[in-house]
Amino acid sequence: MKIQLMNVQRQHETYSAEYEDAAIKVLRSGGYIGGTEVSSFEEEFARYQGAKYGISCGNGTDAIVLALRALGIGHGDEVITVSWTFFATAESIAAVGATPVFIDVCTDTYCMNPKLIETAITSKTKAVLPVHFYGNSCDMDAIKDICKKHNLYLITDCAQAAGTRYKGERKNILGDASCFSFFPTKNLGCDGDGGMVITDNEEIARACRSLKVHGSGKDGLWTLKREYSIQGKKFPENMPVGESKYYNYLIGYNSRLDAIQAAILRKKLVHLEEFVDGRRRNAELFDEAFKDTEYITPVAGNNTYHSYYIYALKHNNAQLIMKRLQENGVSCGTYYPVPLHLQGAFASLGYKVGDLPVTEELSKTTFAIPVFPEMYDEERTFIIEQVKKALED
Ligand SMILES: Cc1ncc(COP(=O)(O)O)c(C=O)c1O
Repeated sequence: MKIQLMNVQRQHETYSAEYEDAAIKVLRSGGYIGGTEVSSFEEEFARYQGAKYGISCGNGTDAIVLALRALGIGHGDEVITVSWTFFATAESIAAVGATPVFIDVCTDTYCMNPKLIETAITSKTKAVLPVHFYGNSCDMDAIKDICKKHNLYLITDCAQAAGTRYKGERKNILGDASCFSFFPTKNLGCDGDGGMVITDNEEIARACRSLKVHGSGKDGLWTLKREYSIQGKKFPENMPVGESKYYNYLIGYNSRLDAIQAAILRKKLVHLEEFVDGRRRNAELFDEAFKDTEYITPVAGNNTYHSYYIYALKHNNAQLIMKRLQENGVSCGTYYPVPLHLQGAFASLGYKVGDLPVTEELSKTTFAIPVFPEMYDEERTFIIEQVKKALED
């Protein structure tokens, strides 16, 4: 038997008729950019997560960039985030010209350690950007309290956490702006790239809407006027003003969710709870199977309904165990092998080995095993057998 770590074909097969029908309708409509599939998906996903506005875009990385820009974060600003995440989290901060300031994660939940936030705050800090890692939830109460106390924006990276709940509700994992990815392997994945910013704040929503299409149109004009008024400056009288897309007011991006992806995502969203249930069921059976072994199983945060985008085990011999699993047909891998503070791309920030001990240890001792919801019972049994066997001398 050979089991993939993430199996997107099987997810497609389960409801292929629905998805293909939705895609064909768009192909035949000729409406490939924008339109009702996109606006309906934005409304439906924002509602599902418990927010007022959804602004779709090209991918989850762009969603973070848009959120940061909409909040006015850029050169000279610092954003406190984690190093134990996918590169895009901190790459987006750097892409808007700000500096990521890395702090460590909790030893049990692998999410941002709120106790370390205040040690990293400086006069340049503008926002805190925690990641709901692997589908677990950060300690949102503690993080929100600190942001409120220090007047900092809270941007949550929810790329791995569609369907996760904190204190019983999906909306409780959100910040001032929250960023989702619809990369195919994600809990809600499209058949290509996609992302979304969701927010309750109309100003952030309008700025994101404009920035994602070259800073143009009505929302661009509105955002620029707002910037002038915040800075106490008079809006120039001689500026060409119009509401069409050929009037550009901000230096933005071209970052759109295709109509075809939106149509498929609308169909998948209907089944998202079922996908999350499947992940949770696999995780529960793995927890039970590995509880009396040398493995350390995942720990959901307090008050968290974990969505298990990734199910990772911890063991000091992770490298050897992964080798054995791969040889025996169980795909596995470390998410992520190089913590961001040690990545070459961030070398200029001057971090060194030993700066974030929990993150560094996790990058050597954790490994993900397949947890995708469409897994067959016999595959799960095989994975359990192989994971236990990999411990034998
Ligand atoms: C934690 C995290 N943040 C951001 C992203 C970026 O999303 P995308 O690949 O859609 O740009 C990902 C995707 O892998 C992610 O896992």
